[in-house]
Amino acid sequence: MKLSTRSALFASLFVPAALAAFDQNRGGAVLKAPADSSFTSVTGTFTVPGLTGTGKLSVWVAIGDTLAQDVVLKGGVTYADGLTSFVAWYPDGQADITAEVPIAAGDSVAVTVSVSAEDKSTGTVVVENATRGRRSTRTLPVPARAGDPAALTALAADWFVQAYQAAGELVNVPSFGTLTFTKASATLANGTVVGAAGAGTFEIQGTSGQIYSQTTVAADTITIKQQ
Ligand SMILES: *[C@@H]1O[C@H](CO)[C@@H](O)[C@H](O)[C@H]1NC(C)=O
Ligand SMILES: *[C@@H]1O[C@H](CO)[C@@H](O)[C@H](O)[C@H]1NC(C)=O
Repeated sequence: MKLSTRSALFASLFVPAALAAFDQNRGGAVLKAPADSSFTSVTGTFTVPGLTGTGKLSVWVAIGDTLAQDVVLKGGVTYADGLTSFVAWYPDGQADITAEVPIAAGDSVAVTVSVSAEDKSTGTVVVENATRGRRSTRTLPVPARAGDPAALTALAADWFVQAYQAAGELVNVPSFGTLTFTKASATLANGTVVGAAGAGTFEIQGTSGQIYSQTTVAADTITIKQQ
């Protein structure tokens, strides 16, 4: 398993054994909650890229329980021979919400995921096609496999582009050009809203080390440039 220097550094600083549930096919940013705090919501807005061909790509915003990212409340858009929208609390499966929020290339999509610091048994995902004012709000139960909801910590805020690969094959990244999350922010348990500054970056990688993305993070903007 090869990691870029930046990812390897981030991984060794924050997520020593984290990569089991965390494949290498993601580009984007992960903000860690300050010590003694946690996130209650994470939001970001992006423009759906015009995608073609046989590859698969998803764009999503999430709250990860820990930096191991093995319990992840998320919502976003998937391209796989057409565009769909989804919500999920991983490791539970995704719910397709395309009937509520149809997606077309060029649409502006806003995703907000939130949890309560008091009642941790459910999370809420709002996906909105801001271009036409279509919106879905779904409340999801904590996945059974996550164990005791009270033990969840909501320590990671995620903004990702995810690519996929078939077993034994090279990662197949549809051409997305540059994907920019704007209005990226996260709310801490005490109500303070923070931007993405200070987030660690991840890049889409092939198993033999090819790097397919270049991520930069600014105050409220995360830019993932294909390369
Ligand atoms: C979102 O809005 C755009 C622009 O109006 C539209 O083309 C697309 O089909 C959208 N999906 C929805 C919500 O209908
Ligand atoms: C909220 O929590 C953060 C992180 O612990 C801290 O930096 C900030 O000062 C707190 N804000 C308030 C209003 O207490």
